[in-house]
Order: sequence, then structure tokens, then C-alpha cells
Amino acid sequence: MDKRDLVSVFDYEAAARKKLPKVAYDYYASGANDEITLHENHAAYERIKLKPRVLTDISKWDITTTVLGQTITMPLLVAPTAFHRMAHPEGEIATARAAGKAGTIMILSTLSTSSIEEVMPEATGTVWFQLYVYKDREATLSLVQRAESSGCRAIALTVDAQIWGRRERDIKNRFRLPKGLSIKNLMPAGREQFPKEKADSGLAAYVAWQFDPTLSWKDVDWLCSKAKIPVLLKGVLHPEDARLAIDHGAAGVIVSNHGARQLDTVPATIEALPEIAEAVDGKIEVLIDGGIRRGTDVVKAIALGAKAVGVGRPIIWGLALDGEQGAKHVLDILRRDFELAMRLCGCTSVQEITKDLIC
Ligand code: FNR
Ligand code: LAC
Repeated sequence: MDKRDLVSVFDYEAAARKKLPKVAYDYYASGANDEITLHENHAAYERIKLKPRVLTDISKWDITTTVLGQTITMPLLVAPTAFHRMAHPEGEIATARAAGKAGTIMILSTLSTSSIEEVMPEATGTVWFQLYVYKDREATLSLVQRAESSGCRAIALTVDAQIWGRRERDIKNRFRLPKGLSIKNLMPAGREQFPKEKADSGLAAYVAWQFDPTLSWKDVDWLCSKAKIPVLLKGVLHPEDARLAIDHGAAGVIVSNHGARQLDTVPATIEALPEIAEAVDGKIEVLIDGGIRRGTDVVKAIALGAKAVGVGRPIIWGLALDGEQGAKHVLDILRRDFELAMRLCGCTSVQEITKDLIC
């Protein structure tokens, strides 16, 4: 495919769909149940209109910002997504290199096909670790300690997926990891493979077998007492939970519906953001992910209260097409799109993007 034809993240998705095996594409692309929220996550952005200012000298601009006091070159980071080696042989190592070269953060998934210890020496920038809490709390704590000792600079505790959303494409495909791939981080605990049982989705069976559905606020207290690096809660949609996150020691929340892969017909994350930003009232940082595909989406998310945004699937599409270079190109496309949108709004910095730009 001529790279000049890959102009937007949508072009990358279309090309990745042609290149990836159906089972892999379906796993990456799918949402829960009728995929209503999957559609809504981006459609909700399209319904929001911008009201730009003019005559503000946009000849010079700067899109750097910070998250948890850590500087990034743009208010966009790589959301944690599993099984990157299913998209490209270099997997999460390629993604970490791309994110670092783009000057932003990669959040590495617990369910990665490259271990923390494989990724971190190759990472060219800041990496956070996304944590799933296993029934095996020893294995869970070991993940935190390994992430910290390997140089990860924050933990994103996923709080919306202790039981699995119904991904009907995975069920029909009898989703399994390709031969030779495993959940490398859990190899020391002997929990790196899906169960042998005849299941519809091997991943759903693994989650039911291994993840702890008792997860509650006392575990957030436990994790915050054990972790030496900041802890964010990923998967918050309710303003009351955002308030509780402050009380329980979280450094931030990621407004997320897990890429619409958990509970269908929840709001698009951009619809949930304003209430949460108001509830948090600047006491902790608010990030958002879900359906972000354009620079205007990033402008809208910041205007409505997010410090930065996370992008999931588009990075996988870039990885699938051209490994590290593809993932980096996707990040560059999003950066340029954001810069243009910000400047056309009459803004020359992230700090100038405020709610009055929203109609
Ligand atoms: C995810 N997501 C996710 N979240 C998490 O906390 N741990 C994980 O391992 C994964 N894995 C994962 C795999 C795939 C294929 C997808 C699509 C999503 C959710 C992810 O972090 C993020 O919330 C969404 O992907 C953001 O939406 P977009 O950008 O993909 O629309
Ligand atoms: C998913 C996981 C891995 O949504 O979070 O597939």
C-alpha cells in the first residue's frame, strides 16, 4: 500500500482490516453486544460543534503538556491494548519505541504479548503499566513491583473489566491467541495461557478463571499503599466514582468505557467527561479515551475537561501495517491533526483550549 494513501487513522483501519486475519481484526475492532456505544464513542464527537476565535496570531504554537507532572509533546498518549504481537511480530516493543519517539507515554497492558522486562529496555520514552487484579494477589503485587523496578512511572488500575463484556465476534470466531503467543507478564505465575477448556472466547474464559470479581475500593486502598508510583483508575464513567477516587488516593482517573467492549449502551466517554471533570474539580487529573480519531476530538476533550486523551485501536492499525513506523505515523497524523485544529480554533497552546470553544 502506498504510504501516501494513508492520510488518516481511518485509512489505517481500512488497510489493517485487509491485512489482518479476520479473527485478529475482529478481536481488535469489536465492541460489546450490539456495538451501540462502539459507534457512539466517535459519533458523539461528531455531534459536538466548535466555535473558533479569530485574529489571534497563530504563527507560533506549542502543544506540549504534562500528565501527573510528566511532560509529553502532545496531550495524547497510547492507551493500553492487549496482544500487540498478534498485529506485528515486534508487538509491544515496537509500540513502546514509537510512543517514545513521538515523545508521549505508552500504557503497557498486563495482557501484553511482550513482558515488562522485554519492553522496558527497548522503550524510548515514558511507560505506564496497566494493571488487572488477579485472584492471585501475589501475582498481582509482583506485577506492580516488576513494573516499578523496570521503570514504569505510573499504574493505571483497570476497574471496569473484572468480568468480561460480551464480544460476539470473539464468540463466533472462538477467539484464541495464535500459536507461539502468550500473556508473557504472567509466565512467572504460570498463568500465561488461556484455559484448555472448550470455550467460545478463550479470552473470556481466561478472565473468568483468573480475574478477581471481588475488586472494590478497599483494593484501591491496598494498591495505593503498596505502589511507589502514582495510581490512576481507568474505566470511570460515574461522577460519584470519580469523587471516591480522590478519597481513596488515586492520582487521576481515565474516563473510559474500555473502547465500548464491556457494557453496551453506556454513554460515549466524551458525554461522561463534563460531569466527571466538574466532580473532580481539579483535585486529581482527568484523562479520557474512546473513539478519538481526529485532532478536533482532542480539542473537544480538552475543552470539556480532560488533561490528555488516550488512543487505542488506531495504534494497533499502524502496528499491523508497518510495525514501529506505522504506529509512529499514526501518532504523527494525530499530532498534526490536533495542531491544525487547535490553531484553527485560534489557540496557540493546550492551556488556551477552554470550554467557550464548544457551541
Ligand atoms: C483494549 N482496552 C484495554 N484496556 C485495558 O485496561 N487493558 C487492556 O489490556 C485493554 N486491551 C484492549 C484491547 C483492544 C483490542 C482494545 C480495542 C481495547 C481498552 C483501551 O485501553 C481503551 O480504553 C480503548 O481502546 C480506547 O478506545 P479506542 O481508542 O480504541 O476507540
Ligand atoms: C480487551 C482487554 C484485553 O478489552 O482489555 O480485550
